Amino acid sequence: MKVYVTRPVFDGAIDRLRREFEVELNTEDRILTKQELTAHLRDKDGALTLLTDAIDLELLQSTPRLKVVANFAVGFNNVAVDSATKLGVAVTNTPGVLTETTADFAWTLLMAAARRVVEADKFARAGKFKAWGPKMFLGYDIYGKTLGLVGLGRIGQAVARRAAGFNMRVVFHDPESIPDRIIKELGVTRLPFDELLRVSDFISLHVPLFPETHHLLNDHTFALMKPTCIVINTSRGPVVDEKALVSAVRDGKIAGAGLDVFENEPEIEPELFAMENVILAPHIASASHETRLRMCMMAADNLIAALKGERPPNLVNPEVWDKRRK
Ligand code: GLV
Repeated sequence: MKVYVTRPVFDGAIDRLRREFEVELNTEDRILTKQELTAHLRDKDGALTLLTDAIDLELLQSTPRLKVVANFAVGFNNVAVDSATKLGVAVTNTPGVLTETTADFAWTLLMAAARRVVEADKFARAGKFKAWGPKMFLGYDIYGKTLGLVGLGRIGQAVARRAAGFNMRVVFHDPESIPDRIIKELGVTRLPFDELLRVSDFISLHVPLFPETHHLLNDHTFALMKPTCIVINTSRGPVVDEKALVSAVRDGKIAGAGLDVFENEPEIEPELFAMENVILAPHIASASHETRLRMCMMAADNLIAALKGERPPNLVNPEVWDKRRK
């Protein structure tokens, strides 16, 4: 069988794939156009894809041999999963292995934004640190404050665990039912969404991108937040209406933001570049040496299992399995 890997990834994963299949790679570190991707996948049985690859209905219809799309990410909004299911294509993701690393980074952004680390670093590098000042770079305390988590799945829970060390009150909103045992263990309180927005000093987003979570933060919801609130997004860009965020920061409706993801990635709303109280990161929340390797190996293992006819451990469309393309 033949598989395609859409961007340069870790050698260990390629070696593992090579032991099982004929492997073709995109050796250039750039996103392939839809035409290129379609052309490469036309004679392939499986693909190891990245979140930058748009796997849509048209592509899946033009690649009738393709049986498995193993996405190197926990999020899979880049894949038209419903279409894949209809066409019998298995889709897998990489959950779990990036939970702690992503939670670490949500905290990195939170702390850096609260204490103005990026701004202060630029100031010091520019040779502007001439004297200690009593009001220089005043930020916001973190300990003892209220952290609002939108989504209390794996990553939301890992973010909540870290808040204990800061003696924070942690509130959450999640339409899913969360076991009482977890709520008790984490010491978190469920709140209606609007209430969470009103009481939180920090709001961190941990929801997948679905139609229901698109623009969850918008003009209306920013207006409910405290003017001292800092918003952190390590989920997916379109969960936030980026233009509304720009207005909220500009008009002082919130105090700042830490963003790892953007609505039209890799493009960034230009006004954000000039906002010192917004930290911009290029979608790196899971980017530790250890975690990216684990994600890649997991994607390769999913691909191998599925093409060998074994139900892959991280199938996001389990209903496809009995009617998958053979
Ligand atoms: C990264 O954003 C991922 O979904 O794994």
